[in-house]
Amino acid sequence: MYLSKEEESMLNGEEGEAARLAMKLVVKVGEALGAERLVKISHAHASGISYDNIGDAGLEFLENLYNGGGRVRVFSTFNPVGMCIGLEPPPRLREDPNFVKKQVKIIKLLRLMGFEDSVTCTPYRIRTPRLGEHLAWGESSAVAAANTLYGARTNREGGPLALAAAIVGRTYYWGLHIEENRQPTIRLRVPGFNIDDEVTAGLLGYYMGINMSDNVPLVDAKVTSERYVISMCAAAAASGNIAMCLVKGVSPEYREPRDPIEGVEVSYSDLTSLKETIESASLDEAELFFTGCPHHDVDLLFQVAEYLSAKNVAKLKRELWIAIPGYRASKVRDLADALRRKNVYVVPGTCIVVSRLRGKADAIATDSLKTAFYMPRRHNIRVALSTIWEFIDKFSA
Ligand code: F3S
Repeated sequence: MYLSKEEESMLNGEEGEAARLAMKLVVKVGEALGAERLVKISHAHASGISYDNIGDAGLEFLENLYNGGGRVRVFSTFNPVGMCIGLEPPPRLREDPNFVKKQVKIIKLLRLMGFEDSVTCTPYRIRTPRLGEHLAWGESSAVAAANTLYGARTNREGGPLALAAAIVGRTYYWGLHIEENRQPTIRLRVPGFNIDDEVTAGLLGYYMGINMSDNVPLVDAKVTSERYVISMCAAAAASGNIAMCLVKGVSPEYREPRDPIEGVEVSYSDLTSLKETIESASLDEAELFFTGCPHHDVDLLFQVAEYLSAKNVAKLKRELWIAIPGYRASKVRDLADALRRKNVYVVPGTCIVVSRLRGKADAIATDSLKTAFYMPRRHNIRVALSTIWEFIDKFSA
């Protein structure tokens, strides 16, 4: 692989042990994939940093990187962790002191290395990616959003690779960093209805994931908000290997393919049938409702508060959990307190998927198809699908 002088000096350890280790990892993976060179990045985003995920070995690896002079060279953020940050968690999410101690240590090390205090899977809300710029992101939903919504370029990096990329400020020039690989490869037509709620958007993404994995779908659908594009991308990346779509009227790189490509048409009843195959519980059986996968902006909290007060709801009969970025927790403390009295829990910096809910619930409801994909697989928890508003209407006291 061709390396610049600066890259070679990092690889030779002239810029510290951490930079040497990080460069070695990036180069090794790049060479294995056949990359000819590296590319400078402007933003790294590390995922998989829950203590549950990395354990003591990962914690030690982070400590060694930090002690070896590991500092980020570019703007860097990190993903949700295994516990609530900055607000009282719902009782089922309270963690034991040892877990909390270790998780806090991981966050501290990341901050010391120069990571932004983010704790979110929506890094594009902290720093908006620009068309054509190169990133090294490790959260599949964020990767798909960066490529699809902003036309920025990133592959789906594993946790250690995104961390290494943050330290050396580069990644291997391969996959979706290369223009040629960003061409649409299959057409998806959605005639006759709009994608105008979170569940329908997720179902469309889930359909893409299971039927079009490893493709760049050209999506001809009316997706009525950016949030629904994000939910669709998250589901497509979870249920299949889709890191980029080109959505008509949304994606800056949307273009007709150079050569004819295969086309598929999806009807509303296709999505309804798919929903039936995914659901494993009824809304009545759900012990709680989770929304915020990917994390919501705090404006949803205000909308929920208004909705509850317009309907004169004193307290919901079932818990409602709303996940938001960790760095937002301190901004919404009073509102979160008021919502908790109504059985609505704001969960910053974490989510139901990366939490340790296994054994603490049998069935949940959600509007997120990414959550619906992972809950039975990771936590053995059954899932019902509904919008947040359907859930509130049903369980208003
Ligand atoms: Fe984010 Fe957790 Fe979903 S990290 S994308 S809320 S699985």
